[in-house]
Formats: sequence, C-alpha cells, structure tokens
Amino acid sequence: MTQARQTPARKILVTSALPYANGSIHLGHLVEYIQTDIWVRFQKLRGADCVYVCADDAHGTAIMLKAEQLGLSPEQQIANVKAEHEQDFAAFNIAFDNYHSTHSEENRELSSMIYEHLVANKHIATRSITQAYDPEKQLFLADRYIKGTCPKCKSEDQYGDNCEKCGATYSPMDLINPKSEISGATPIAKDSEHFFFTLPAFSDFLKGWTRAGHLQDEVANKMAEWLDGGLQEWDISRDAPYFGFEIPGQTGKYFYVWLDAPIGYIASLKNLLDKTGGDWQEYWKPDSTAEVYHFIGKDIVNFHALFWPAMLHSAKLRTPTKICVHGFLTVNGTKMSKSRGTFINARTYLDHLNPEYLRYYFAAKLTSNVDDIDLNLEDFIQRVNSDLVGKVVNIASRTAKFINNAGGVLATEIADVALWQKCVDAGEIIAALYEARDYSKAMREIMALADAANEYIAIQEPWKLAKQAGSEAQTQAVCTQGINMFRAILTYLKPVAPSLTADAEAFLGETLSWHAPVKFRGGPAEKINEFKPLLTRVEKDKVDAMTEASKEALATAAPKIVATQVESAMEPIAAEIDFNDFAKVDLRIALITNAEHVEGSDKLLRLTLDLGSETRNVFSGIKNAYDPNDLIGKLTIMIANLKPRKMKFGMSEGMVLAAGPGEKEIYLLEPHAGAKPGQRVM
Ligand code: 2FM
Ligand code: ZN
Repeated sequence: MTQARQTPARKILVTSALPYANGSIHLGHLVEYIQTDIWVRFQKLRGADCVYVCADDAHGTAIMLKAEQLGLSPEQQIANVKAEHEQDFAAFNIAFDNYHSTHSEENRELSSMIYEHLVANKHIATRSITQAYDPEKQLFLADRYIKGTCPKCKSEDQYGDNCEKCGATYSPMDLINPKSEISGATPIAKDSEHFFFTLPAFSDFLKGWTRAGHLQDEVANKMAEWLDGGLQEWDISRDAPYFGFEIPGQTGKYFYVWLDAPIGYIASLKNLLDKTGGDWQEYWKPDSTAEVYHFIGKDIVNFHALFWPAMLHSAKLRTPTKICVHGFLTVNGTKMSKSRGTFINARTYLDHLNPEYLRYYFAAKLTSNVDDIDLNLEDFIQRVNSDLVGKVVNIASRTAKFINNAGGVLATEIADVALWQKCVDAGEIIAALYEARDYSKAMREIMALADAANEYIAIQEPWKLAKQAGSEAQTQAVCTQGINMFRAILTYLKPVAPSLTADAEAFLGETLSWHAPVKFRGGPAEKINEFKPLLTRVEKDKVDAMTEASKEALATAAPKIVATQVESAMEPIAAEIDFNDFAKVDLRIALITNAEHVEGSDKLLRLTLDLGSETRNVFSGIKNAYDPNDLIGKLTIMIANLKPRKMKFGMSEGMVLAAGPGEKEIYLLEPHAGAKPGQRVM
C-alpha cells in the first residue's frame, strides 16, 4: 500500500509595523494589526507553520523627548508604553507569537552584525554635514523641531523643511527668525560626521526586486518613479544625545531609529526562537524556503521596499516574500479628528464596544490594494447588526433550541445535499480570497452562505414543524442542516471573529478546523450543548458615547465656556429687544463642505456651507481655533437670513454661531444628532 505523502506545511513569518513607544494605539493602527492577525489566524487554521512577531519601536529623538517631558528615563517610558500596547492588542485579539522591543540585546547584536556587513561591503560612506543645532539643549534638530517665517511668502510659524502656505521647500537655516521648538533658542549651524548607506549602489538590484512579485502593482509603480528619479545615499547616523544603539567602534554616534527598526522584526523572531529552540537563520538565510510577509501602511513603503531589501541583500540575508501595503483609515469620510471625536484610541473603543465588531467591519472593508478604508459609524452599526447578528448568529438561534429540546442530538442524514455541498465548495473560494488579502470579497461570500441558510430555514419553518405531531425527525433534520451550515460559516469566519467562534465552539462542543473541507456532522453520538446568545447588537448610544469620550479637546474646553458666560454676565446687559425681532432670526443647520485659510487674513476662515437647497460663502473669525481640515464634513448652526455683507475678502452670506473667549478658544455650535442641512433650528 502506498501512503499519500503529506506536503510539508508552509513555514511563514509574518510581521506588522512596529508601533512607536511614545503614544497609544488608535483605530488607525488597528487596521493593520487586525488585517495581519486575520491573515495569520487564517494560515494557522489551514495548517501552516506560521509565526507572527512584532515589537515596540523604542528608539529616536521623539521618544527621548517624550520621556523627558514626563520626567521618566527613556527605559521607563518604553516599558510603560509597551505594557499599554500589549494590553490593547490582547484585548483586540491580536495574537502575536512574540512581542518584543527594538531596545533589546537581540536587536543590538543583529543591528551591529548587519552594519558590519554593510561596512565590509563598502556600503557605508562617511562625510561631514552641516545641520541646525540647538545651543541651549545641545542637540541637533530635525526639521520638524524648528519653526520660523517662510523665506519666500513670509508666513509665520512654518516648519524647517517646507512652508504649508506656499509650498516652498528649503533648509531650516533659511527660515527667517528660526526657533528651536524644544527650547525656543535660535539654532546655529554646526558640522558633524555622518554615516550613509550607499543606496544608489543597489539601484539595479532594486529595479529587479521591486518588479519580482514582492509588491502590489501600484506600489511597484510608485517605486519605479523613485528609482527612475535616482536614489540618494541614506543618512543612518545621529549624534548624541540620542536614545538608541551606539554605532560599533564610534563614540557619540548612534544608529538612526529607522536603521534598527526593521531589524527589530528579526530580533523579535530571535527572541522567540531562543525560547522555543529554533534558529532565526532558518527564516533569514539566503536559501531559506520559509516565506516572510511584512504588513505595513503606505507611508513607510520606502523603508520596506527600498532600504530594507538593499540592507538585507548587502548583509547576505534573504529578502521578504511580500510587502503587504494597506491604505489609511478615515472615519465618517474624513481624516480622524480629535474635535469631531473620530480620533479614537483603542482603549476608548474598548471602554464602549466589543472588539469583534471592529474586526468584522474592517474585514468587510479591506481589500488587497492600498486604497484608504473608511469607518462610517452609521454603516458600522448597520453592517455589524445586519451581518453578524442578523445573519450569522441568527442561524444558530433559530435552529439550536429545537435540537436542544429534543435531547441535543444531530440528525444522521443531510437534509439538503446540494445546499450543503454549496457550503463546502465555498470553502476553497473563501480560502483563496483570504490568502490574497481580499477580505471584503471573502466576507461577501460568507454572508451569501448565511443568506442561503436563513432562506432555507425560513422556508422550512422549524418552529412550525416542532409543533406538529409526527414531525420530530423532520424538525431534527432541518435544524441539523442549519447547525451544519452555521458550523461551516463560523469556520470561515474564525480568523475574523475568534471570540464569537470560541463561544460557538463551546455550544457546538467541538473545535472548528479548516485543514480540509468542512465535514458534515451528525448521528446519534453527535450532541450539541445548550445554545446561549452569542452576540448582542451594536447600540448607537455606545457608539455616541465613544465619540463623546474621544472629543478630548472639547471636553477640556467645556469649563472655559462656562467661565466666559460668567464674565459676560457681569457686563451690562444690552437694550431690550422685542420677541418679534428675535423671531426674525432664521437659524438653520449647515453642513461645512469646505473650509480654508483666507490669504492675507490672520483671523478668518472661508467656509462653504451647504443649506440643503443652496450653498453659502461665509467668513468666520475662527482661524486660530480650528484647523480647516477638521471642520470639513461637520454640521453647525448658521444665521441664514443675515443680510450679506461685503468684506475685504469677498461677500459673507450669513454667520455661523460660536462661543468662547476668543483666539484659540472659540467653539462652533454643534446641532443635535440626526440634524440635516437646511433644517430650521427653532
Ligand atoms: O511608522 C512607524 O510607526 C514605525 N514605528 C514603523 C516601524 S516598522 C519597522 F520597520 F520597524
Ligand atoms: Zn511660504
């Protein structure tokens, strides 16, 4: 007899980008961790030997300054943040096999080793460069730590590399009246020796590598643009004081955080394998047959698709199998905003909502391309309730009780063979979609099966059968069909909804596995346990409470508004007006469809207001209080029948209502939930 030879399991290393150790995890980060975790869970469920590692990205000036600001040592700072990150990830069911830190012995060793290879291969050049230096803080200043007046358009308060107003690019020392953002001192120009990675030497290698199937097409095209534009040497050193690893053989010179960050992937793997008895080289030696996948956001593609493969190539290590790039998260159609309450931290979400909801919603939105994805909070409620609760859980809640009532035993025969076969066959299609990170299509396939199951149950009406004498066997058969379809659907959903699946497994009395096509379960020995409700609906109140809790800025501002009211109450009250005068004021809900700075005005924003039936142009003196981008998409209240006024910058056709003492503290009124543009307010 010949035995079928088992194909060896795929050996896969997966990483997500390492979060910086100076801030909390927010929903924007979670797109990536959830995307990666789903992929890893899928691989493991299908029998791959897959490890998922990550770490905190602990080095750099920002973290050093943050620690100082909090009165902590950098080591304390990174330990605190790491503990917080790990808690948040665990709560979202992100199941790393290892979570390490780039500030670790493994990473120091590996970074030195790789650097020594670069030196030996003459891929490190040194030369002196001139940079801005804070003489008070005794620190070289990166461009973002310097502000001053734009040398071209003379706008004040511009960063050291480019002007937000006129778009000019320059070097920080060209700013008029430059100031260090750290100490306020005037920076001086100072020379120091820097170390450069000779990236241009890898131009041909990278032209091949970026077209060899490691990147999504759109990413490869972007890389081609950069490669055609010519590569620059990459500055990999920073001067003391710096929180990082000192460059071997040098004093006062440190590796730039982005040199040792990706090496942190290998360091975390090494840390894991040192504990479990493996060897990181198994994954990283040049002829390794393991696969390596890095999941990252589109903002850090240059580091992963150019610098990283070039470094690995020089160090005689293998390069990644795939860089999987995703887009950014928007909430309700625009950039996450603190004032709108849509900059939502992982912890704030967890305080109000079940993480499984978000995992499912992101899965329903994620594709294999780099487009941004939108979390629309209304759609989120609707989608989760309709799909997870209304479709999936509903299958079990409509059938399990009849099996439970009859002793919990599943029927032996399949009632509708064709329908069951459809569920089984969908498995391979869904698996291919997961593999390709086309989760949105996978979720559609799964929900189509749930629709088919619900339709079957609606036609069979087990609740009626259960009441008819002599229909016991048929009731059992119909409900067994339902339970089996539920089993298949939950098997396919298991990577996305691990907690829901675990609860379902407890009631099914089995562990759902997907190593092979899903098998029908039934017969006298196959009993299920008592069904308990598996998932509650998303409540709008909870979502609202979450956005309220996220409106940091407004929450802290509230007492100040009270203070203004008290102050103004002490001013003499103006002359009485008749109610009829007041009633003439037509207050309407307005949607801010655009907001922008007004050239030449240091107080005004130009607002475009949608009143439902018409659009108005209004100038409002709220420039110091709001970033115009944060206003777009917001509803406010306007006086719609104010006579248009000609102002220096154009006609103002109305007025928006705001309160506050002025300057940075002016707060636009926000209407009630559910308000629609054009509605009259009183
Ligand atoms: O952009 C970031 O948040 C970085 N901390 C990501 C590092 S990923 C890797 F290369 F380490
Ligand atoms: Zn300018």
